[in-house]
Amino acid sequence: TITRPDSLNALNVATIEELRTAIQDAYDNKEVKGIIITGDGEKAFVAGADIKEIAELNELNARKFAENGQEVFSLIEQCEKPVIAAVNGFALGGGCELAMACHIRIASENAKFGQPEVNLGIIPGYGGTQRLTQLVGKGKALELMMTGDMLSANDAKSVGLVNHVVESKEELMVLSKKIASKITAKAPLAVGMVINCVNAYYTSEENGFQTEANSFSNCTKTEDFQEGTQAFIEKRKPEFTGA
Ligand code: COA
Repeated sequence: TITRPDSLNALNVATIEELRTAIQDAYDNKEVKGIIITGDGEKAFVAGADIKEIAELNELNARKFAENGQEVFSLIEQCEKPVIAAVNGFALGGGCELAMACHIRIASENAKFGQPEVNLGIIPGYGGTQRLTQLVGKGKALELMMTGDMLSANDAKSVGLVNHVVESKEELMVLSKKIASKITAKAPLAVGMVINCVNAYYTSEENGFQTEANSFSNCTKTEDFQEGTQAFIEKRKPEFTGA
């Protein structure tokens, strides 16, 4: 849970580093099967990168600033455990970018999405120009980033930015946990490979079809493959162990 109540959970450099540690810990911890990222309070998921820090940037340190955030958000995107963004309010700038780095986005009706950086004389720097284009397509992404307009949760869903919309913050966590549980009941290595293969589509260094064929072949080496196929044949529920 991103918690910076005085600034609508805006991400400063210290928060980005805490996020890096949290994701790494969650990934390394065998007890953790899935991750939900949300914002504290009723009003904001994350209202952007911290504008007070941004105001101090110059040509020398701005590139590092962007690359550092991009690195942490890529860790989220590449995490082989499911990461769900439970978007409970404003998801602007770095907040929208954070949500887009997650594998699935679920929003409450009061959520608002946008990349308003042009209002500040900058552009998205934590991957927004790339991931928004991937999610909603070039035309809509350009419009959103050039106008800085916000989208309601339902409009965000209609353009493919959001997977599901629920009425309240309570329902948001219920549905997020329900979907996380559904995924974590599947074969974990297979779920991780799905994440890798889909990411490969967006990586110029990789051929996604090859990644898929390699991963498909690797699946057959796992105990969960034996368990999943045998359980189907024996007409019982599989019990996956992640091995
Ligand atoms: N960075 C730093 N502080 C922020 C912030 C951000 N991205 N977003 C909000 N805050 C702070 C405000 O400065 C204000 O602090 P104050 O009480 O000390 O004055 C506090 O959070 C509450 O925000 P406020 O603007 O008063 O709330 P609002 O309901 O009137 O408006 C927003 C909410 C989200 C529309 C508005 O805060 C906003 O436009 N934020 C910036 C969004 C943005 O441009 N993000 C991209 C940054 S790259």
